[in-house]
Amino acid sequence: MVGRELVALLERRRFPVGELAPFSSGRGRAAVSFRGRRIAAPAVDPRALADCDLVFLVSSDAVARAHGPRLAARGVWVIDDSSAFRLDPRTPLVIPEVNAAALRPDRRLIAGPNCTMTGLGVAGALLHRAVGVREVRLASYQAVSGAGKAALGELFAQSRALARTALLADGRAPTLPGGKAQVLPRAIAFNAVPQVGSFLPDGESGEEKKVAAELRKIWGAPSLRVSATAVRVPTIRGHALAAWLTLARRVPLSRAEALLARTPGLRLSRRGGYPTPREAGGKDPVFAGRLRRGAGPRELALWIVSDNLLKGAALNSAQIAEELLRRRWLGPR
Ligand SMILES: NC(=O)c1ccc[n+]([C@@H]2O[C@H](COP(=O)([O-])OP(=O)(O)OC[C@H]3O[C@@H](n4cnc5c(N)ncnc54)[C@H](OP(=O)(O)O)[C@@H]3O)[C@@H](O)[C@H]2O)c1
Repeated sequence: MVGRELVALLERRRFPVGELAPFSSGRGRAAVSFRGRRIAAPAVDPRALADCDLVFLVSSDAVARAHGPRLAARGVWVIDDSSAFRLDPRTPLVIPEVNAAALRPDRRLIAGPNCTMTGLGVAGALLHRAVGVREVRLASYQAVSGAGKAALGELFAQSRALARTALLADGRAPTLPGGKAQVLPRAIAFNAVPQVGSFLPDGESGEEKKVAAELRKIWGAPSLRVSATAVRVPTIRGHALAAWLTLARRVPLSRAEALLARTPGLRLSRRGGYPTPREAGGKDPVFAGRLRRGAGPRELALWIVSDNLLKGAALNSAQIAEELLRRRWLGPR
């Protein structure tokens, strides 16, 4: 899902691609369309990867581990969307609007962040810099495409099957059985599943841990307190977050709104307006709305939505590559 978005973005943003070499697992007959041509995507050829100036890894942690460090050591720029290296202290974890300063010419393996924290990472960045964010509490409402194409197939199959049967029975709302799932942990159609990733011994899910650790790294805020509940919902694309930010000091709501309004990469709806995943899907910016006071005097509440496949993955990676070009670090070797 991310790879196809990325190829489309490179074309739309006129990234100076001399030659595009797409790869896949090799299990099917994959191909991508680029500049009006259909290009076959065979199984990965490590030698062909090593000939590239820039490699985007949009596959899995295992594939990233197998190729990322080796390519970077040979001087290839590698931008990885998996979670394999995000928390590695030697690997820059970058959202260009927030921490492009973390890029270094000698660190050729670069990680893009988890798609759930990207929206918050962008939305809260200027507030954090200007005032200081001490604590974040959030609940996520995550789209199924965040779990890849097999999960999306599962949502569509379950929805089709249920749409035939789940009509109002006698005017009463039907109850649905839990239902079997293969890709996601529970049936996702017409449901909400508070498990994204596997659970760790302390009861947190892998996703909840990633959101906290990656946000601290991207904001350079090692003591930031984060508590999160990550929930998968049956939306297609666009992760939504209900977030509560406790600031270092009380600021007028108008000041917080002014800071959010000029936060790079963020589009703020004012006066109670808000984005939804369907409105934000397919769009580049992070969207936010429903800014209001939280429970404590220093707490703000905010609703945030961003396209997990775009700013949460492919667009962020394309923007990192553009930043490398701007700095003249990336070019034909
Ligand atoms: N989906 C999101 O919203 C999102 C957001 C941020 C980060 N990410 C990360 O981005 C990466 C891709 O996610 P996705 O959602 O695009 O997954 P996906 O739709 O399941 O696609 C995975 C891709 O990896 C390829 N692949 C699998 N095994 C491979 C192998 N051994 N060698 C080469 N290619 C292989 C698959 O090829 P075939 O086509 O042959 O199956 C497919 O093209 C993951 O690391 C994910 O964590 C995803």
